[in-house]
Amino acid sequence: MRLTLSVIKADIGSVGGHTKPSTRMMAAVEGEVAKAICDGLLIDAFVCHTGDDIAIIMTHTRGEGSSEVHQLAWKAFLAATSVAKTSGLYGAGQDLLVDAPSGNVRGAGPGVAELSFDHNLSGTRPAESFMVFAADKCGPGAYNLPLYLAFADPMYCAGLMLPPMIKGFRFHVIDMDNTAGDSVIELDAPADGYHIAALLRDNERFGIDRIVSRTHGEVAVAVSAQRLHAIAGKYTGKDDPVAIVRNQGIFPAPEEIVSPFAKAHFVGGDARGSHVMPLMPVPINTPVTGMYCLPIVSCTGFSIDKDGRFSESFTDFFDNPAWDEVRRRAQRKAIEMRSQGWSGAAMLPYSELEYGGFRDTVSSLLKRFQMHKEHKPEAAE
Ligand code: 13P
Ligand code: 13P
Ligand code: MG
Ligand code: MG
Ligand code: MG
Ligand code: MG
Repeated sequence: MRLTLSVIKADIGSVGGHTKPSTRMMAAVEGEVAKAICDGLLIDAFVCHTGDDIAIIMTHTRGEGSSEVHQLAWKAFLAATSVAKTSGLYGAGQDLLVDAPSGNVRGAGPGVAELSFDHNLSGTRPAESFMVFAADKCGPGAYNLPLYLAFADPMYCAGLMLPPMIKGFRFHVIDMDNTAGDSVIELDAPADGYHIAALLRDNERFGIDRIVSRTHGEVAVAVSAQRLHAIAGKYTGKDDPVAIVRNQGIFPAPEEIVSPFAKAHFVGGDARGSHVMPLMPVPINTPVTGMYCLPIVSCTGFSIDKDGRFSESFTDFFDNPAWDEVRRRAQRKAIEMRSQGWSGAAMLPYSELEYGGFRDTVSSLLKRFQMHKEHKPEAAE
C-alpha cells in the first residue's frame, strides 16, 4: 500500500490571548476528523495542539497534496474558527488567509508537511515509526539546526556511521523568499555539508523541505517550510512549523533525532514574532503561558500497523523529567537574552520586522530625517 502521512496545522483562535485553543475548538476539529475516518477518507488521525496551533496528524492513501484531505483539514479548521468566533476568542481564523482555497491548502495559511512511502512492513521497514514535531511562536527555519545535526553530524547521530546510513542523506532546501513558487535545491550530506550549512544558517529565508535517504531513496523528513508573511504580505502571526520525521532502522533513532533539541537553540519568534529566543521542548497540548512568550516545540511518536492505523497509544517525547533540565536552561537563556531588551541581536533584523507595525513606526520617522546643516558638504564656489 502506498501510504501518505499528512500533518496540517493552523492557529485559528485561542483563549485569553495567544495561549491555546479552547476545548470546544479541539472537539470541533476532532469531530470533523472522526467523520472523515468513518467515511473512509482517512485511515487514522490524531489531533493535538502546541500553544495555540492545532495539528491534525493523518494517514491515508490519497497521496500528497490531495484536495480531499486538504479540504477536510480546512473544513475542520473552519468549524473550530466558528466556535472561536462565537466564544469571542483571540485571533479567530488567524491562519486561514484566503477565503476558500480550491483543493490544496498549501499557500493558504495552514502549515503542511506530507510524505509517502510503500507500506508493507517488510524489507528495510519491518516496522514503521515516526515522530511529529510541532512548534509555536517561532519562524519557519526552527528545525534547520536540529535536523541538520540529526541527519548530517555523527556527533549527534552516531548511527550515521552504520552501513544503512553511511552514504548520508539528501537535503532538499527551499528558498522561502521566492513567492513565485516552491524553489528547491538538493544537496547531499556529508559531501555538500558546508553548502547545506551555508543556506540553513539563515532560518528566516532557507528551510529544510525534506530529507531523503541516499542509500534507499526513502523520504525521512518533511517540513512545513513556508512563510506566512510571503502569503499575507504582512505579519499575521508566526509561522509555527510542523515536521514529520521517520525513525529507526535506515533512519536515525528517536534519541538521535531529539538530542539536538537539548541545545534549546535560539530561533526567531517569541512575542509579536519579533525576538530571538531559545526553543523550549514541551509536552503536547502545552499552552504558551510562561514569561516572554517563549518559542516551544512538542514531539509525538507513533507506530503504524499493517492497515495504516496508529498504535493505540502515542509517545510524548518531551514529557519526561530529562527535559526539565533543558527547559530550565532554555528559561535561563531567555532571561539573559531578554535582559538586552530591544537592542541588536536580541530582536530580529528590520527585514523581518518590516512585515509588522515596526515598519510604520520606522518609516514615519524616516520621513523626518534631515541632512545636518553643519555637516553638509560646502557648495563649490
Ligand atoms: P532496546 O534494547 O530497549 O530495544 O534498545 C535498543 C536501542 O538500540 C536503542 O537505541
Ligand atoms: P502566533 O503565531 O502563535 O499567534 O503568535 C503570534 C505572536 O505574535 C505572539 O506574540
Ligand atoms: Mg496565535
Ligand atoms: Mg501559534
Ligand atoms: Mg502562528
Ligand atoms: Mg526495544
